[in-house]
Amino acid sequence: NLEELVTTDDFEQRLLRWEKDPRMLDLAEMVGQGKFGHVLRGTFRNSNGSVSEVAAKTVHQKDLQAHRAFYHEMTILITIQEGLGTPARCTNIIQLRGIVTKSDPKYILIEYADRGDLLSALRQARNRDDHHEPNFWGLAVDVARALAFLQELKLVHRDVAARNVLISANGEGKLADFGLSRDIYTDSIYTQEADNPIQINHLPLKWMALESLRDGEFTHKTDVWAYGVLLWEIATMGNEPVYPGPLRPDCHHLIQLLEKGCRLRIPHGCSVDMYRLMLRCWNADHDRRPEPQDLIKAVQLHGNVQT
Ligand code: ADE
Repeated sequence: NLEELVTTDDFEQRLLRWEKDPRMLDLAEMVGQGKFGHVLRGTFRNSNGSVSEVAAKTVHQKDLQAHRAFYHEMTILITIQEGLGTPARCTNIIQLRGIVTKSDPKYILIEYADRGDLLSALRQARNRDDHHEPNFWGLAVDVARALAFLQELKLVHRDVAARNVLISANGEGKLADFGLSRDIYTDSIYTQEADNPIQINHLPLKWMALESLRDGEFTHKTDVWAYGVLLWEIATMGNEPVYPGPLRPDCHHLIQLLEKGCRLRIPHGCSVDMYRLMLRCWNADHDRRPEPQDLIKAVQLHGNVQT
């Protein structure tokens, strides 16, 4: 029953303000495929006649779990957008353009990011052998700005990673994919099973802080841990994080490694200062990790980012 998802009048009112007429939407090719639906590129004709490029997130029909995630992300995006104001006070968070919920198929319309995701961009640059590292560190600064803003709104992203950063036509980094996973985290972390007490193997384990793996705790400090892994992804031009042992360690294995003090190794060619910053993000004591505001300055400095 989808009605239960839209629980209060207040929530209904907030949704209505974003509702768009699907006849104004012109969809083109698929640009992404998520667990809960596809992402299509499209254009949207605004009431003043102007046309903007959008990404339209869809949701698999008749899948209650997917609908939950879909409405959850919609709520988060509306909360962020209301917090951002117009004009937006932070351009490093993907902007909501509208929603279509009164007819099927349903869509979340977001700002279109022309240059795709950061992980693909890193891997393409590595294959072309053109390492414009300072450009990529600039994108890391953008993500730090997004984290500082989310902290202000008291929102935790929970899935900060290069794959979830989009790049706009003008080369700006935009943190995306909000809330998609919150329900997964809470549902699965507490699923008890005989020989595998924590069923969280489908979670981004290698981006997760020690306290998230151990206690299912997610705070802006665990986003900072994941940000450290994002720095490592940039320094390696898009490697998958690897710890000693199996390529895809389970949760218990990873907890043991991290508790022993084991961390991702310094990437080849990475400056010691940048690696020290990563290590601070991965401090077992979350109070000793940098704040997002510190990250902005530190990455500008150690990544030689022109400001
Ligand atoms: N893939 C997923 N979301 C996207 C967006 N907003 N812009 C471009 N490609 C995307």
